[in-house]
Amino acid sequence: MCGIVGYVGNRSIVKTLLDGLKRLEYRGYDSAGLALLEADKIQVVKTIGKVKNLENRILNEYGEIEIAGPSAGIAHTRWATHGAPSERNAHPHLDSSGRFAIVHNGIIENYLELKSHLQGKGRVFVSETDSEVLAHLIAECYEGDLLSATAAALKKVHGTYGIAVIAVTDPGTIVVARHGSPIVIGVGNGETLIASDVSAIAAYTQRVIYLNDGDLAKITAETIDIRNIENIPVSREIAHIDWNPEAAEKSGYDHFMLKEICEQPEAVANAIRGRMDKGSATAILAGLNMTTREMAQVNRIVIAACGTSLHAGMVAQYFFEELASIPVDVEQAAEFRYRNPIIEPNSLVIPISQSGETADTLAAVREAANKGAIVAALCNVVGSTIARESGRGIYLHAGPEIGVASTKAFTCQVSVLLMMALLFGRNRRLSREDGLKIIDDVNSIPGLISQVLERKEAIEKIAKKYAGAKDFFYIGRGCLYPVALEGALKLKEISYIHAEGYHAAELKHGPIALLEAGVPVVALANNIPGKDKMIGNIQECHARQSPVIATATDGDNEIAGIADDVIWIPECSKFAAVVPTVVALQLLAYYIAKERGCEIDQPRNLAKSVTVE
Ligand code: M6R
Repeated sequence: MCGIVGYVGNRSIVKTLLDGLKRLEYRGYDSAGLALLEADKIQVVKTIGKVKNLENRILNEYGEIEIAGPSAGIAHTRWATHGAPSERNAHPHLDSSGRFAIVHNGIIENYLELKSHLQGKGRVFVSETDSEVLAHLIAECYEGDLLSATAAALKKVHGTYGIAVIAVTDPGTIVVARHGSPIVIGVGNGETLIASDVSAIAAYTQRVIYLNDGDLAKITAETIDIRNIENIPVSREIAHIDWNPEAAEKSGYDHFMLKEICEQPEAVANAIRGRMDKGSATAILAGLNMTTREMAQVNRIVIAACGTSLHAGMVAQYFFEELASIPVDVEQAAEFRYRNPIIEPNSLVIPISQSGETADTLAAVREAANKGAIVAALCNVVGSTIARESGRGIYLHAGPEIGVASTKAFTCQVSVLLMMALLFGRNRRLSREDGLKIIDDVNSIPGLISQVLERKEAIEKIAKKYAGAKDFFYIGRGCLYPVALEGALKLKEISYIHAEGYHAAELKHGPIALLEAGVPVVALANNIPGKDKMIGNIQECHARQSPVIATATDGDNEIAGIADDVIWIPECSKFAAVVPTVVALQLLAYYIAKERGCEIDQPRNLAKSVTVE
């Protein structure tokens, strides 16, 4: 939710920290701040709002702050949980002496108790945050070594954290620690970086160390000393990130969201490349690491995810049940975690997460693993916690997704899940001939997306016509039902229009009461099974004066005759239809939000990855 970056080395420290913060801004943008370690003092600058505000303040008030190297600094971009967005609540936080500074991601659950204990010792708090206790606690525990003080402080803490600490007592040093909130160390030549997300540091080094939960590290420009909370050295491998930092730039597009929508043909092509075998009419998903026998023994699949990833899971339910005859439960990850779910020995649990860091999905992974399930994750971010803790799974290879509204991750998730259903299907009842048809479906997806993208001006026109509406309904059937939910989610999160997705059959069980002139209904009426019923639903909407925007298969005059506006979708199978249809809805939401002048990449109250409950 929040972003952390830190640097120790000889570069311009302010520029490096600001650059890292800008790359992390999609994680939180309520406020930002940085702390720089000078010989005998820590200098802190904070502002509310975006990183640009922080940059302007530094330039206006300080000129450029340059510190003779090697210097250390930490910085943070915040998504408020405890305490409103304000300068006081922005990180970094100092202890009362101003000699220790921390930045923190996560939630300290026992902070009130710790705070009153520390206040009793004369420590003065200036913010309403839970995080500030860490600065005071570390100062209290300091007995000559920053890492030991941090470890001692963290032993008193309940909750989750990814933290970075600097102190005047330890020049040229940053201490980091992780429990439930990621920290990655970038290994440079004569410099070391730290961040909550590799995207902040990928421009500086491709060599990274992912800390595990319970790890602490003391870093200088030349050294990295990793220990556990008992101060015992632990060794962690250096991983190489095959990530082109330019992939995280806007590259001339107005917004990351539009760039990521337009990247989808290539993203899906990357997700499916080399993963299908026409010879045996199946998919090759080596990351699952399951023998054909183990696959055949799976008698139930449980999918746990949140938001857009949850919608991909709902689509997959149709795929697995129809192609592989495996019963599938799709669970909101938080519900899975707290409901004491029934997991049998042959249950396969599939967590789905773009970021691989979503707190509820991660907790579901742990719960499933504890109950003895086989856990195979679908993640986009390589090396993310969910990917690593699941131990097996499939990466999406969608490339970095920066826009808060998830787009290309969804279409890659759906494509990979279709391949997974093909694999399990061929492992049981699906014929070779039907397997080949699914391979054709999967291979057709990048081209189908390109065709929709070529029609974006037409979608923009429709978007402009309806951008003033206050409420929208989206309705779908079959595997287009979750697409209706996803279309509504996209619209509400970036345009702030109230939008609801429903199964079309559910309309008359209540929501139809809200239909009237001025409340558009987006009806997913592609020419796939369920279309005839959808025609009836469109008539019901018309009878209540609601204008209908329909998605329809190219050349379908029947739908064109009854809808007010049509978004044309190329002809394709019902399985493949999910992807071009959702791309059309992404574009519709994007252009409506643009017309309304919304902050598309950084919508209010949202952050890219939800690493707190
Ligand atoms: O990183 P994840 O896929 O686990 O994230 C799950 C949701 O937080 C995410 O999909 C969210 O709903 C997006 N803002 C949707 O656009």
